[in-house]
Formats: sequence, C-alpha cells, structure tokens
Amino acid sequence: MPASAQPRMFRHRDDSAQLTLADVRRDIVGIDTPVPLLDGTRRPYVFLDNAASTPAFGRVLRCVQDFLPWYSGVHRGTGFKSVLATEVFDAAHDVVGRFVGADLSRNAVIFTKNTTECVNKLANRAGLRPDDIVITTLMEHHSNDLPWRKHCTVIHVGVLEDGHLDLGQLRSALSHYRGRVRLVAVTGASNITGLCSPIHDIAEWTHAAGARLFVDAAQLAPHRPVTMMPDDDPRHIDFLALSAHKMYAPFGTGALVGPKQFFEQGEPDMVGGGVVDIVTLDHAHWNHPPHKEEAGTPNVLGGVAFAAAIGVLEAVGMETVARHETELLRYAYGKLRRMPGIVLYGPTEQLDDKVGTITFNVEGKHNSLVAAILGVEGGIGVRNGCFCAHPYVKQLLKVTPEEDTALTGEVLAGNKSRMPGMVRASLGCYSNEDDVDALVSMLERVIRGDIRGTYVQDRSTGAYHAAGYDPDFLEYFQYHVPDIHGDRRPSEAS
Ligand code: ALA
Repeated sequence: MPASAQPRMFRHRDDSAQLTLADVRRDIVGIDTPVPLLDGTRRPYVFLDNAASTPAFGRVLRCVQDFLPWYSGVHRGTGFKSVLATEVFDAAHDVVGRFVGADLSRNAVIFTKNTTECVNKLANRAGLRPDDIVITTLMEHHSNDLPWRKHCTVIHVGVLEDGHLDLGQLRSALSHYRGRVRLVAVTGASNITGLCSPIHDIAEWTHAAGARLFVDAAQLAPHRPVTMMPDDDPRHIDFLALSAHKMYAPFGTGALVGPKQFFEQGEPDMVGGGVVDIVTLDHAHWNHPPHKEEAGTPNVLGGVAFAAAIGVLEAVGMETVARHETELLRYAYGKLRRMPGIVLYGPTEQLDDKVGTITFNVEGKHNSLVAAILGVEGGIGVRNGCFCAHPYVKQLLKVTPEEDTALTGEVLAGNKSRMPGMVRASLGCYSNEDDVDALVSMLERVIRGDIRGTYVQDRSTGAYHAAGYDPDFLEYFQYHVPDIHGDRRPSEAS
C-alpha cells in the first residue's frame, strides 16, 4: 500500500446487503452435490461437519475469481497489479479486524494459515520462561494447549459435570498463581460441546490478576458476534485467533489479532523476506507488524476470500446467524432428547451459551461405526473420535485414570480399536431442518438395527469401513492435467 493511502473498503460488486440465510444456503458451493451411497444410489450430501471446515460461500468463490486477473505478489512489486493487489490484501486485514471489533489504531491483524498457527506464533513470541504460568482449560482443542506446554508451566482449569468451564476454579487459579500468570488462554466456544465461556468476565478477572487474555475464537467467530472491545476497557480481549476455513472461505487463511506494541518487541516468529526494513551482514532491522509477522509471500487469495466471507456474514448479520443456529439446535435437541439409545453430551435444554455442535453416542455402538453408517448409508458428513481435544472428551466420557493408562498403552502398541470418542454433528449458518431430519432419521435406523452394510474395523486407526463400498473417486473429481492419475487416464475412468 502506498505509505500515504489508507486501505479502501473493497466490496464485492454483487452488493450483498439484503442477504437472507436462505439466499446463503442456495449459494453454498456444492450444496446439492450428490454423493454415492452403499446401495448404489446417490443423494445430495448432508454437510454436518461445519465445526471442522465449512463449505465455501458462492460469493467467496466469485470474489476470488474476480480478483484472479488482478493477482500479483504484494508489498514488493511496482506494477499496477501488484499495487492493486497490495491494497486489496491490506484492506482484508482491516475487514477481519473490524469484524472482531478490534481497535485498529492499536492492534495488528496478522494473517497465518489457521488458528493453530496463530496460537503457536503467540506462544513463540510471548517470551515465556519455564516458571511462567499460562492458565488454560480442560475444554481446549490441543492447539490451545500444546503450544503453551513447549514454553512454560501450564495449569489446566477443570470443567463442571455438564461440560461448562469451572469459573470458580479459574478465579482460584488466578488468585493462587498471582504474579506468575502471564496469560490466560481459553476457547470462545468448545469444538466438542459448543459451550461458550464468558470471555469478557474472564478478561476482567485476568487483567485484575495482571495477566493478558487470549481467546481461541475458531469455533466462536463463525457463529456469534465477537468484539474485542477498546484496549483500555478492563473487559477487552488482548489476543484473538480465528480461521477462515471455518467461516466459508476455505482458502488457507487464519488471523491473529493483538496489540501492535506486543509484536513490535522482540524477534519475529519466522524470518525471511518481508519482515525487515534493512539488513546488514550482521543485523536485521525488523519491519512493523503485521509485516514483521508475515514472513515470505503471503496467501493473498486466502486474505481476499476471508474478507469476502466476512462481507457475506455481515450482510446477513451475526445476530441473525446466532438466532438461527440456536433455533435449529433447539429443533435438533427436541428430537434427539426423545430418542432412546442416544447419549448426548453437554447441555441439551439451556442452549443460549452453546454454538451448534451436537455430540452424542449410540448405546452399544462404536462412534466410528455410527459415523461410517451415517456417511455411506445416509450421505451425511459428521466427524467422530476425540476431535483433537482428548482431555475434554475423556472427561465428558468419564474415562477413569486407570482406563486412560490402559488405553494409552493400547494406542502406543498400535491398537486404536477401543479409543473412546463421540460422534459430532455440527451446524453452519446455512444448515436447516432438512439436515437435522436427515440425521435423526438415519439415527433411528441405526438404533432399530436397520443397517444394510457389513462394517469392519481397522485396529490401527479405529475407523470402520463398509465392505464393498469402494467408489471410484475419479468419477467425482479429476485434475485437469493429463496423466496425473497414473495409469488410469481420465477418459478410461468414466
Ligand atoms: N478443530 C476442527 C474440529 O474440531 C478441525 O473438527
């Protein structure tokens, strides 16, 4: 961006100010794509794995296509395309910052590839010493736990019986370790139960204890309005991370938002091109954030896609998204609660502080078996297992320490067949009652034993596979490059 210019707001030329969620659903890329079932028929995929990654908004795809003729490397070139691309890319940072209510005069928006990279970057940059304490929680995705363990002493605050964060324990930990706590790192919404923690209350307690707050908003930002609040408000969020692939822009971008001053200090997490003002043979003078923290040629298309997706979410309104998802969750639990044989985890009636993930098991059936049946007999995409949050899942499943030790031994010996887990169906803003009905109807079949396939478990992964289900993926997708598929030419595949 020319030094004098402020980034302009770039809007997609198809101005989406009047969007409804029904419009959004119609415009989801692949919403009606048929997938093959075990019985040889096909049906439109029921996408209930939005907590893992969402499909793309059509408007995001079109925005990327519109931008591609102007694509060029950014921050280096002098030609028109490079200058335009630089301005578009810089503006994308501001779009993300405004979406999460950050004060952009004091905070930097740093693009990464995902939330995991954001947490690792923050942990690498925080100057933590082994005796410093980071308080995190039992609810976290591993990405908001393991990076901290590399640098300092980590305290895990527990959860209550219903899966909520134990706020009393959090406050006690803050008081007990006062003076040593550098950071509190909590999820805004769990990827298992969908439970949201009161992040602004936690911010107030954290600041009173002299520490700073990081919120992993990967599962929160796609579903609820988020505001970091002004930096001088005791309830503000110091650092926040989010991922575009969970926000209808799966083009490989995440963002870490935090104080410029913090990132001005110290060395960048990764060094190389773009992070410096000037280099001599024995010294490098660092550029300012975000450039200082975005080494190498950045993912320009990912940034454009992220900003485009936010434009759509803002056109719908995050309050509308939140209301719709809560109503749909209520609809789903209204049915699932009445089904004998279904074990549900987390609250099922008080849903106001819960985003749209539904975790469950079917009594007497392995979670992987249920997920496989939903996939190949119902065309329903869910996820199963421990969802990269093993401690929380084991707590909710009441796995005892003795069982945990035995299971760990089995896994280390290459046998995951008894690995505990759950099935997760997760909603997006475009999900509707038909999706929930498809899930419920397949679960009814599973419970009454109306299963057509024969399923075999692979002990090394724990996954179940249906015997005879062997679709030819070349019928569904092929690279447009001759011979990339080896011996089988595309013409022979169809
Ligand atoms: N963190 C993502 C999930 O929960 C991948 O599925």
